[in-house]
Amino acid sequence: MSGLSNRRILLVDDTKANIDILVQTLKQDYKLGVALNGPKAIEYTKANRLDLILLDILMPEMDGFEVCQRLKENPVTKTVPIIFITAIDDPQHKRKGLEIGAVDYITKPFDISEVRARVKTHLSLKITQEELSNRNLILEEKIRERTRELKETQVEIIKRLSLASKYRDNGTGQNVARISRMAELLGRSAGLKPAEAETLALSSMLHDAGKIGISDSILLKKGKLTSDEWHIMKGHTTIGSKLLSGSRSKLIQDAETIALTHHEKWNGSGYNLGLKGDEIPLISRIVGICDVFDALISDRPYKKAWPVSLAFQEIESKSGIDFDPRLVKLFLGLEPELVKIINETAM
Ligand SMILES: [Fe+2]
Repeated sequence: MSGLSNRRILLVDDTKANIDILVQTLKQDYKLGVALNGPKAIEYTKANRLDLILLDILMPEMDGFEVCQRLKENPVTKTVPIIFITAIDDPQHKRKGLEIGAVDYITKPFDISEVRARVKTHLSLKITQEELSNRNLILEEKIRERTRELKETQVEIIKRLSLASKYRDNGTGQNVARISRMAELLGRSAGLKPAEAETLALSSMLHDAGKIGISDSILLKKGKLTSDEWHIMKGHTTIGSKLLSGSRSKLIQDAETIALTHHEKWNGSGYNLGLKGDEIPLISRIVGICDVFDALISDRPYKKAWPVSLAFQEIESKSGIDFDPRLVKLFLGLEPELVKIINETAM
């Protein structure tokens, strides 16, 4: 605990003789300030950092209660402990003093050892409170730092895992980043809260995580897939959802949902569950559009990249068939922002 000797106490009393006794009692151990009336006491608190105030109640002009109330209203002085000086036979004053925020009282005539003991006790308490509050601030900062680190680690692992699946599919980190940014943008436009859209930016990165489980001969095949190969290919949705299942994290739970249902179609003709319309989770409907759009404007083993304008037309033509019409309308309305994302993630 920091020493008590550097602590500053203000003594407030309109009777000079009382001040003299208190000064004699405390000057060996503490730094002292004195004020002979209420206004002077308040003035003193503006110029000096205080650790304790001994405050007389009965004073002309401004009594101790009013001084106390004013100091408690000021954020700078409200935590400074106040000990009232009261007449020994005045229980009402004692009660009122404690009610308006004093921590204690000492009685006149002074008992020197009592004054010393009470002052020491309340200064020690104040110091302990300061130390606790400092420790809390340090702990809070540490927790914030650890949370930031955990978040960064989470983001990094998601990016690396998504890259692992994209590499197998001839895709790149740019595809992942593009779909993520487009999904976040469309999500916000569709009414997701900022935090939900940020989560979607990450969870969408894992939509094809299940491609890790599909063989190269199918993933990288240049020609048309046979119906058996296509059946296996479609399984990347269930493989992905199994890979991500059982998590307690909302982000990974969303990623699991998206992995399983990002190939569902609005009219119910998609896979794997054949969900229809609003049965398809909104986040999957959003990622579904962005994923198809990204595939259209990217080179693939079996096709060249389409011009962006044609890709927009294709998305529009599938409104109400493959895609949620409301989302298609929003998506088309976001063309300038989407083109910006495409340019910034150009390969
Ligand atoms: Fe997929």
